[in-house]
Formats: sequence, C-alpha cells, structure tokens
Amino acid sequence: MKTIIEPFRIKSVEPIYFTTRKEREAILQNAFYNPFFIHAKDVLIDLLTDSGTNAMSSHQWAGIMEGDESYAGSESFFHFEKTIKDITGMPIVIPTHQGRASEKILFSIIGGKGKYIVSNTLFDTTRANIEFSGAEGIDLLCEEGKLPEVPAPFKGNMNVEALKKTIHEKGAANIPLCVITVTNNSGGGQPVSMQNIREVKEVCRENNIPLFIDACRFAENCYFIKLREKGYENKPVIEIAKELFSYADGCTMSAKKDAIANIGGFLAMHNKELADQCRNLLIITEGFPTYGGLAGRDLEAIAIGLNEVMDEHYLRYRIRSIEYITEKLVAAGVPVMQPAGGHAVYIDAKLFLPHIPVEYYPGQALVGALYIEGGVRGVEIGSLMFGKYDKNKKLIPAQMELVRLAIPRRVYTQSHIDYVTEVIIEVFNKRNDIKGLKIVEEPPMLRHFTAKLKIAGEHTN
Ligand code: F0G
Repeated sequence: MKTIIEPFRIKSVEPIYFTTRKEREAILQNAFYNPFFIHAKDVLIDLLTDSGTNAMSSHQWAGIMEGDESYAGSESFFHFEKTIKDITGMPIVIPTHQGRASEKILFSIIGGKGKYIVSNTLFDTTRANIEFSGAEGIDLLCEEGKLPEVPAPFKGNMNVEALKKTIHEKGAANIPLCVITVTNNSGGGQPVSMQNIREVKEVCRENNIPLFIDACRFAENCYFIKLREKGYENKPVIEIAKELFSYADGCTMSAKKDAIANIGGFLAMHNKELADQCRNLLIITEGFPTYGGLAGRDLEAIAIGLNEVMDEHYLRYRIRSIEYITEKLVAAGVPVMQPAGGHAVYIDAKLFLPHIPVEYYPGQALVGALYIEGGVRGVEIGSLMFGKYDKNKKLIPAQMELVRLAIPRRVYTQSHIDYVTEVIIEVFNKRNDIKGLKIVEEPPMLRHFTAKLKIAGEHTN
C-alpha cells in the first residue's frame, strides 16, 4: 500500500510551539494535571478533541464572506436548511450554536422525572442534559463494544435484546426517546451498522418510541458501513446517509464534527408539534429560528462542510490515517481499542498502566505522561469523566478506562501522525514510572472539565 497522502494542499499555515520537558512538567502541575487547564499555545499536537478544531476549506472560507447576516430569512439559512433536508429527509431544521444546545432544548421538552432515555451510548453532554431534566439515561451497548482489544466490525451497535428487556421493565410510556450515537464516541468511535439501526427502529416502532440519531459523525459512520457492511460496498456515502436518516424520527447534530466547521449545530425532525415546542425554547435561549445562535456566515460554512465531508477521497484518508496509528501501536504492543475508530485512537489505560488502580485514574495519569513526553494533548474517557460515587463516597468506576487522541479534521499531516505514534510508544516503554492521581477539587457535574488533581502517593506505584 502506498503512503497515505492528504487529499488537499495547504494554502494557509499556523505555527505550533515547542516547549522543553522541564517546561511541560511545570505547565502540567500548574494545570492541576487536567489538560483542559493547559493553554493551547503550550501544546504541540492538540488531540484533545476533533470538535470545532477542523480546518475549513477555501470554499468554506469563501462561504464565510458570502454569509447573509439578516436577522430573519437569511439566504444562508435557506442554504443550510436545504442541505440538511436533502441529507436527512427531515422537513424541519432548527439551527443551534452547538450540539449540546440542541440536546438542552430537546430534553427540556421530552425529559423529566420518571422518564428514561435509552441509547447505544450517550455522550457526556447528552447524558448531562438528560439528567439535568430529571430523566435517566440508559446505555445499552452490544457486548463486543465492551471489549476494547477484540476487533468486530460494528462495536457501536445497540444491544437489541437489552433494549426489548429495558422497554419491558421500564414501560414504553416512560421512554420518550431512543438515541443512537453514530459513531459511538464514548464507546471508542466505533460505528453502528445499518442493520442494527433497522432492528432498533423496528423495536421502537412496535413500542411507539421515537428514534433520534446523534449525528455528530454521521459521514464517518456511513463510510464504515460502505467498507464493512454487505450490500453497501458500491453505494455512494450520500445514499448510505440518506438511508440511515430515513429510519429516524429526528436528529441532533454538532456541526463542530462532521460539518467540518468551527461552531454550530442543529435539530432536525419530522414531528411538527415537537418542533414548535423546540422553536419556542430556541427563541428564548438561542435566537430566531433562521439563525439559532449562529452568524449567517457559520450557517454557510456548515452547509458547504456537510457536502465536503461526504467526499470519499477525504473519508478514505481520514479513516486510513487513524487506522495507521492503531496498526503501529498494536505492532508495538500498546493496548488500544480495535479496530480503529472513526475520529480517534483510544488507548486502554487499564492495561497500559496495570499498576495504577482505577481509584487513581490511570487514564488521566496517561494523559499527563503523553503531554510531558511529547507535548501531545489527549483526554481521559474513563472514571474521571464517567465515574460516580456510592453512598460512602467510594468511586463507582466507569466501564472502561480509555485515553482518547482525537484527530482534528484536515489539520495535521502524516508526519505529525508519525510523531504522535512515536511519543505514545516512548511513554509505553517507560510506563512503570507513571504515577496515579488523586482529585483535590471537583464540580458536581461534568467534572472532568474542571477537576483539579495531584499526584497520588507512592502506594499507587
Ligand atoms: N454528541 C456527541 C456524540 C459528541 O461527541 C458531542 C461532542 C456532542 C454530542 C455535543 O456537541 O460539543 O457541539 O455541544 N463531543 C466533543 C468531543 C466535545 O470532544 O467529543 P457539542
């Protein structure tokens, strides 16, 4: 196989800044071992997230100049609306400033005490918005999705039997929505098969439960379907996307991912009554329904990005580049989630650092070590993000302790990717020196963003 090349050339560049190991040690300590507190200029390769960190194309930048900034009835809104209607087949499109704004609006209306929202896996902001409404989120991931090192083609699938059981236990009337996250971010960026979506839809239909897609990374998911699911190998990604959305009653979207934009989101749906309620909330939280918290130029950039993301040369490069890192890491013995996800590499911190118990946050410890070794910033997706406490303040750990290295779209070159791989392998070779961490301060919700930590005592080593 030939070298993976970027399917673009570079017209505008941005410097990245080098620091010494000694400087990084001090920076990390001052940031309370939390990567969210590190200033971006102190990061060499920033893999904290693929959200809003995308490089826009010259076509999108031209769209930015064309943006119609009218308060009502902006031309850019109609371009945005038409693009989304074409892809999703959904007649109602409501712009928001980002994914979680869509979630907040939706769950304020359909959530509430005594309700259950079922999902393959809810992303953390989705779960937080559900819980904030008083409802409960239930993840029903398929069994193979829970085994990081065991490859399977669609590890993001929902467990259909568990869905039936949950509906039976909780009662369909108490389940106002089923959400399928594509690709399954918190479960390793793993795709969901069309067959699984079809089966889930059937169960939802029988029980009168609407199905929504959390569509952040829909194009990456559709490309995996093309690569891995029988019958889709010769279909264009746009056709696969249309079929995927055809099974849904609505969707939430963060345009900061697969719309290759820097900000934005939307809700789309079929149900007019629900949409009217959403628009009422939109007006008091986001703005008038033809801009919803966005500038006209953002609507334009999103409309263009949504088409660019389905270009198969782009998708092939994106998926292959992430698979390439995973292959190199596997060859070096580094425990990573397999197969590679769509937007990120997930390292299994429990296996990487078996000497650090989960109470001392091995994922967060590994995030710190990667930063010190090479200025690479990743994020923990484990017990710091999802852990809870029992009545005695004892940690109830997350299912997995992962470290995510998310690759921004069209930002880094293949040599940056090689560098990151070298840094991870170097850290792996020195893994026995890494120490666990303790929380010294934390907020009540979404604690990973602002928790402060320190190195735990020698006993964790
Ligand atoms: N759903 C999924 C699957 C996500 O990955 C995200 C964001 C959201 C919803 C919320 O969207 O950020 O626009 O409000 N994920 C980012 C990440 C933050 O780093 O994975 P948002």
